[in-house]
Amino acid sequence: MQQNDLMEKVVSLCKRRGFIFPGSEIYGGLANSWDYGPLGHLLKQNIKNAWWKFFVQEREDMVPLDTAIIMNPKVWEASGHLQNFSDELVECKSCHRRFRTDHLLAAISAKPGYDKEKIRSIKDVRCPDCNGEFTAPKSFNLMFKTFLGTTEDSTTVAYLRPETAGGMFVNFKNVQQTTRRRLPFGIAQIGKNFRNEITPGNFIFRTREFEIGEFEYFINPKDWEKTFEMWLSEIKRWWKDVMCVNMENLVWHEIEEGDRAHYSKRTVDIEYNYPFGLGELHGIAYRTDFDLSRHEKVSGQDLHYTDPETNEKFLPHVIEPTFGIDRMLLVSLLEAYTEEEAPTADEGETEARVVLKFPKHLAPIKVAVLPLSKKEELSSFAKQIAGDLRKNFQVDYDETQSIGKRYRRQDEIGTPYCVTVDFDSLEDKKVTVRDRDTMQQERIEITKLKEYLADKLK
Ligand code: GAP
Repeated sequence: MQQNDLMEKVVSLCKRRGFIFPGSEIYGGLANSWDYGPLGHLLKQNIKNAWWKFFVQEREDMVPLDTAIIMNPKVWEASGHLQNFSDELVECKSCHRRFRTDHLLAAISAKPGYDKEKIRSIKDVRCPDCNGEFTAPKSFNLMFKTFLGTTEDSTTVAYLRPETAGGMFVNFKNVQQTTRRRLPFGIAQIGKNFRNEITPGNFIFRTREFEIGEFEYFINPKDWEKTFEMWLSEIKRWWKDVMCVNMENLVWHEIEEGDRAHYSKRTVDIEYNYPFGLGELHGIAYRTDFDLSRHEKVSGQDLHYTDPETNEKFLPHVIEPTFGIDRMLLVSLLEAYTEEEAPTADEGETEARVVLKFPKHLAPIKVAVLPLSKKEELSSFAKQIAGDLRKNFQVDYDETQSIGKRYRRQDEIGTPYCVTVDFDSLEDKKVTVRDRDTMQQERIEITKLKEYLADKLK
């Protein structure tokens, strides 16, 4: 399959099966806005739950937090977002299309025949669409501005948060004191963020509102190198064992000093080989004590920490692993999408099937209950089985069309197990369980079904 085809096929399946819909569609849509449908919501929830379990719940050194989206604007003054959270853009004087200068230069330098001497800066570039001349580059702040209350002036200006990190830094002292934590420990949260991106696109890869899961891990600066390595290896474990991605699709990009934020002593971008090219998936940065020192300076509050054993008083340093939830979801779809030939009911015959081979714990629906007939006697029996399974699993119930079509529908949304209820089930109190990947079928006693599925889905 061509890489571009893969992206198109995933986008189309997402719309057709209710994973992701174009935003505000009945009004003609809103460019680059997307709504998660029933299956998309479940998939996202499963990814967030898995992330939370792995990075927060299962660790003794992490605490959760959930902070406001709209904060005192001084937070963004201290973090540098008000002054520096901007992209440079150019506009074509002829067709008026806007481009981010860094994206345009990166695309040009990746093309065969690129001549470094001829293209030294954006001034040497013409519009790739119409060959028009560009305006001089302008800086554009990415934060969404709003006003609090009824008066719209400089005293009521506020911003939608562009990242969740700010909420964790300003609550460092509150959390440390109320939980009586000693260093090292981390504060984690998952939440919505807003950035007025100049060039959103590639489906849910770059949008103007998106979710981030991230944590600030507070340390004594003497420990930064070994802690960074520890988190890098945990991140690898996350991708390999929990998200189950093909590790060859990931690139661990060590950011060179000149390209790092001025306060960062080490940053690694984890990139993914998307159908549209290599792109950032998420990152990890050693941010030194930049954030706490800036918040201390702007707020006038003492944010130092005193080590209870040594009495050493210092500003904690921070290692920050950050994950775009929507990008992780995109990767889970791209990794899961499979086309293969499968045997039909006719001996020796095969047909193409599309399967989302999600790791079972991420699959939106875990079990589908499918009665072989719509007859009241069988469907009420099958509904009872489905109702009972619902107490433990996310269940779908489907009694329309042929069983073959229903299996294909469940394959296409990645349901790991289909439970078929037939007329024999009424007598022998057994059902047939079909495995999504092997398509093997097994006859299981209904009284043991829950236990069987729980074991398989573990
Ligand atoms: N606190 C650090 C921070 O916010 P970031 O690299 O700006 O770092 C974190 O953003 C992650 O959020 C990115 O690695 C990416 O996965 C995701 N992300 C950033 N901008 C995005 C956008 N416009 N649409 C979707 N996801 C985005």
